Amino acid sequence: MSEIHHECLLIIDFGSQVTQLIARRLRELDVYCEIHPFQKVTDAFLQELAPRAIILSGGPASVIDEGSPRPPESVFQMNVPVLGICYGQQVMMQMLGGKVERGDGTAEFGRAYVTPTDTRIDLLTGWFMEQREQVWMSHGDHVAALAPGFEIYGTSPGAPFAVTADLDRRFYAVQFHPEVHHTPNGKTLLQNFIQDAGFTGDWTMAAYREEAVRQIREQVGDKQVICGLSGGVDSSVAAVLIHEAIGDQLTCVFVDHGLLRQAEADEVVTMFRDHYNIPLIHADEAELFLGELDGVSDPETKRKIIGRLFIDVFQKYANGIEGAEFLAQGTLYPDVIESVSFSGGPSVTIKSHHNVGGLPEKMGLKLIEPLRELFKDEVRALGMELGLPASFIGRHPFPGPGLAIRCPGEITREKLDILRKADAVYIDQIRKHGLYNDIWQAFVAILPVRTVGVMGDSRTYDFACALRAVTSVDGMTADYYPFTHDFLGETATRIINEVRGINRVTYDITSKPPGTIEWE
Ligand code: XMP
Repeated sequence: MSEIHHECLLIIDFGSQVTQLIARRLRELDVYCEIHPFQKVTDAFLQELAPRAIILSGGPASVIDEGSPRPPESVFQMNVPVLGICYGQQVMMQMLGGKVERGDGTAEFGRAYVTPTDTRIDLLTGWFMEQREQVWMSHGDHVAALAPGFEIYGTSPGAPFAVTADLDRRFYAVQFHPEVHHTPNGKTLLQNFIQDAGFTGDWTMAAYREEAVRQIREQVGDKQVICGLSGGVDSSVAAVLIHEAIGDQLTCVFVDHGLLRQAEADEVVTMFRDHYNIPLIHADEAELFLGELDGVSDPETKRKIIGRLFIDVFQKYANGIEGAEFLAQGTLYPDVIESVSFSGGPSVTIKSHHNVGGLPEKMGLKLIEPLRELFKDEVRALGMELGLPASFIGRHPFPGPGLAIRCPGEITREKLDILRKADAVYIDQIRKHGLYNDIWQAFVAILPVRTVGVMGDSRTYDFACALRAVTSVDGMTADYYPFTHDFLGETATRIINEVRGINRVTYDITSKPPGTIEWE
């Protein structure tokens, strides 16, 4: 999709942990931007991309060290606005004739406060309503002398050169990170920067939809496309978008491994086949998967069996689709951003996408990835734009191996049935209490242990289950959700009363790390 031409902002990445956040903030402001590692940005590259503005990111290196990363000089000769952030500020000063010194006790990490100088600057319009502005700093080195043409517009105790600019050349350089949440007014600063650069804000999902449709048509011609549908947001949005472009030249394959949640398979089939009229193969292979998983309790073995069968099954159905030349995948932008490595050349750690990895080459298919320029929240916005129901788009993530990894120990149909019912009650409770959207992911795990209980006058000997609910931003770290005791008590009562087979409910209060979100 990279031919889609928008006013482009280039972010040169020097390896900061938060570079992606710069892009996210800009996308929220309807500006199209691309992140590229500094090693890749050459004069030719700059000419080809022709960015309307450039941001130099932060990074872990020190500009004082020999061989530390630099952008090409031409960045400063393109007559476009440049914003340097943290390391980006220092590299800018160094290259333009200023001076950077190592921090000797003046390092600042975390929250700091910037106050204005006498002269105000458009970059800081909307700042300093409260006299000082909270920002987030993370630097050892600092600028010690400004490059010619620069002035100071904001200072902090640890960074006297907190906000600097050369207004004639439209070069801006800040020591703090405007892209992070802990700089509450940071987005305003970025907005002022893009306004100065003349962006019209043409990056909307409506525009993206139109252009993506045109490009998919061009790319596919009269050939056939296969799309593996998991029921998750990414593959669903990709499928609906491609269908809008090429109609019945798209066939979706939905592999039902018998490890889905209650009513999930029906929902997917109804939505895609009946509502969107997308040709859909419902590969009902529960017997195959559950058969091979019979008696298996080791988590990694379970995952391997499911992964292998998934590919076999997908291939079997896809082979039956005549003339298929393309395989659609819901790859997202974070999967394709190349990460910066200082030890070698540009590192091409492009993650292989789950579920169908390796398939395209094996089957001689070309890839079509209409979401590879989008962040997750943009995919959701595109889904809304395409008319997918909000309840579907906002669904919690669900893992590829499905309920298999929520059923520690051996998987049986009896346990899966009980688990589905308990999970449905739990999610219903969460929705009824209006908590669903506050939670990243919530589910029940059925434990491989039976416990004694008493119901009415009878003894019971049934399964125990664990409720899990976490908050998270990206699934990499997570914390348990602080339900009230009333909520937990009411949910436990409902599960035990409504689900035969469970007589004990526990709540998992482990964070990640040290735990993981799933139980296996
Ligand atoms: P963990 O359990 O590793 O999970 O903390 C982090 C997030 O990833 C999901 N997950 C998976 N998603 N295939 C997937 O598509 C998988 O094999 C898989 N394993 C875990 C998990 O649900 C959570 O959102």
